[in-house]
Amino acid sequence: MTTLPSARILAIESSCDETACAILENGRALLTSTVASQMEMHARYGGVFPEVASRQHVLSIIPVVEQTLVKSSLTLKDIDALAVTRGPGLAGSLVVGMNMAKGLALGTGLPLVGVNHLEGHIYSAWIYNASESMPAEPQFPIMALLVSGGHTELNLMTDHLTYRRLGSTLDDAAGEAFDKVGRLLGLPFPGGPAIQKAAETGDPTRFKFPRARLDNPYDFSFSGLKTAVLYEVNNLKKKSNTLPVEDLAASFQATAVDILFKKTMQAARDFNAKEILVAGGVSANRALRNIFQSQTEFKVNIPAFSLCTDNAAMIAAAGYYRFAMGHVSQLDMDVQPTWPLS
Ligand code: KG4
Ligand code: ZN
Repeated sequence: MTTLPSARILAIESSCDETACAILENGRALLTSTVASQMEMHARYGGVFPEVASRQHVLSIIPVVEQTLVKSSLTLKDIDALAVTRGPGLAGSLVVGMNMAKGLALGTGLPLVGVNHLEGHIYSAWIYNASESMPAEPQFPIMALLVSGGHTELNLMTDHLTYRRLGSTLDDAAGEAFDKVGRLLGLPFPGGPAIQKAAETGDPTRFKFPRARLDNPYDFSFSGLKTAVLYEVNNLKKKSNTLPVEDLAASFQATAVDILFKKTMQAARDFNAKEILVAGGVSANRALRNIFQSQTEFKVNIPAFSLCTDNAAMIAAAGYYRFAMGHVSQLDMDVQPTWPLS
């Protein structure tokens, strides 16, 4: 790709339960990122309550954008373009960020770029903190494993913004499996971080959980694994009043991580990828990060821990590459609650 122009992007993300804003330079250097999480508010429902989420976005969006500008000591005059998550996500949540971004675009005359949230997750691997030295850029072709609460898929990236989806989950997403298993083990929402914590003191070899055999080796299926944990829990409950939650969490996590790791490695070999990229909320998982980081066959790009779960820096990064290649959206664009990456 030819040299890209310089641009400072202000981005907004509100696709689920995080209201976020960030300012990023040239697709990589992060100046400021603000994330207002509603996690505690949804924990009592055991999952994200869409109507509560959208109302909370309305309350948070202006303070979050203002705070981001104040923290960076910049004004809207210092921004070259705006980016906003257009989808996929909860419609009622997406419209809040979208309307804020359109308002800013109208008021300032700045160009606005609608960004796919999944593309944002992938581009989180390009970001570094502007106060630190710039790390090497991920090199194509890249085998990208996207593992979030709503999506699990393997994409071959041959260039910027160019994806070939090789496989995806046939049922639950990886994050969804962590959340559902967390719930059936009596752990708090969200299940991912809670399972990771419980697993720290558990025995990952105590329970042997099955792996689905699928026609397409790059597809995933986690519902059988989740059901196997449920059967084991029901059996154990018949025998004792106390569940070995730590061992169950550790055994589930080890199985899920192993599936994600092996399929990604195989796909990277089969398609002659130069590097691997792992992104999305589940890429915050320490066991998953460790297993990828401890192999030496491929260089692995995993975003900084704080950029794994939803944030606006990743939307600014993807927005930058879209903007730099001439993709500017019209102000009559609508949100796209279901929007595949490729
Ligand atoms: O990317 P994300 O913030 O939102 C979506 O776009 O879906 O991902 C959220 C998902 C949740 O399912 C959450 O349980 C999972 O990421 N997650 C984790 C960890 N941290 C977040 N899963 C496993 N281990 C973690 N440490
Ligand atoms: Zn996400």
